[in-house]
Amino acid sequence: MRILGIETSCDETALSIIESDGGSSFSVLANTVLSQIDIHKEYGGVFPLIAKREHAKALTPLLLETLQKANLYVEKSSPSLAPQSLSNLFVQEPELIETFDSILLLEKPAIDAIAVTNGPGLEPALWVGINFAKALAELWNVPLYPINHMEGHIFASVLEKNAAGYTIPTFSFPALALLISGGHTELVHIEKFGAYTKIGETRDDAIGEAFDKVARLLGLAYPGGPKVSKLAAEARAEGLINARVEKLPRPMIHSQDLDFSFSGIKTAVLYMTQKLGDLSAEDKKAIAREFEDAVTEVLISKCKRALEETHAQTFIIGGGVSANTYIRAHMQTLCDERGVKAYIPERHLSTDNALMISITALLKVMHGVLPTQREHIRAQGRLALEEK
Ligand code: KG4
Ligand code: ZN
Repeated sequence: MRILGIETSCDETALSIIESDGGSSFSVLANTVLSQIDIHKEYGGVFPLIAKREHAKALTPLLLETLQKANLYVEKSSPSLAPQSLSNLFVQEPELIETFDSILLLEKPAIDAIAVTNGPGLEPALWVGINFAKALAELWNVPLYPINHMEGHIFASVLEKNAAGYTIPTFSFPALALLISGGHTELVHIEKFGAYTKIGETRDDAIGEAFDKVARLLGLAYPGGPKVSKLAAEARAEGLINARVEKLPRPMIHSQDLDFSFSGIKTAVLYMTQKLGDLSAEDKKAIAREFEDAVTEVLISKCKRALEETHAQTFIIGGGVSANTYIRAHMQTLCDERGVKAYIPERHLSTDNALMISITALLKVMHGVLPTQREHIRAQGRLALEEK
């Protein structure tokens, strides 16, 4: 079985094709990502309509490239006309019509199902991926699976590499997942595949958002998370002492729940930078280290509490911020101390990709979940993991 995954929820246009013989191992025929970061950088963040336009421009060329990589690209001897119904799907997506014709020049590729992110994320960006997926599903007459982006992050994290690709391991439930990204900070209790309960979440900013805002205060370009982390690592390696930089708050670290708050730390960094005036390179490194220490301490404390409360034997961390070296190391130590199995994603699978969408669809197929009728699939910006 071959599954094409499509991801356009934020600022990466991503496609992936996996091949499975029905078991839990699969190979990756292609996994392509086109980042819009350089475009959004100029604005200091992601704007939904710009993201949508860029996805619309990128999807067809990226699909052709992905099919070529997967050896599934075969040109037709005579091109066919698009079914009339496709034009309805493209009413909202004029940029897609311009390029979609080149897909009509291809033989139907040997793909058995399509999976597309239907939320959470930026709705205009989600819609363009969904309409593209619906058009392909109609053209090639294959089933379509809507996939929750956060569920994708969970399962991207558990993959184990093997000679031919990856294996999806069987792990013990209940499992606990910490999802940390640019839009999310949440703790999820996983009773079994498909049964999720959010047991903690941020009350204001997501942790990735806080990293990005602190980066901006330090004069670093969007998305600044990795750059803040690099400065923090330098400060630690150098044993930097900088008395100008005060301790930051650890918001909600002692609260008797599993919620988070990151806007206070960000504001504290703002006041600190205003008070310090011109920041030297040393100041920036010291602030980055103090910020990373503060958020990591909060994460560890809440994860510890969540592990105690849920008695989970499996701990999964996922989402863009799980690429952070310092946080990864601390999460691993926490799990080692408690004898809990930790799943930490390969770094390129931490941030947004479409492999996570294809594999979540594969898991659905393996668990007997049926595809959804195309006309019922819509973008849901705030789609919760609990929703079916
Ligand atoms: O999951 P993701 O790619 O997109 C969303 O769904 O939000 O996460 C992107 C976020 C950005 O805020 C980015 O700054 C952050 O993940 N990020 C990091 C690191 N790598 C990415 N934050 C801290 N340290 C990193 N190494
Ligand atoms: Zn994400």
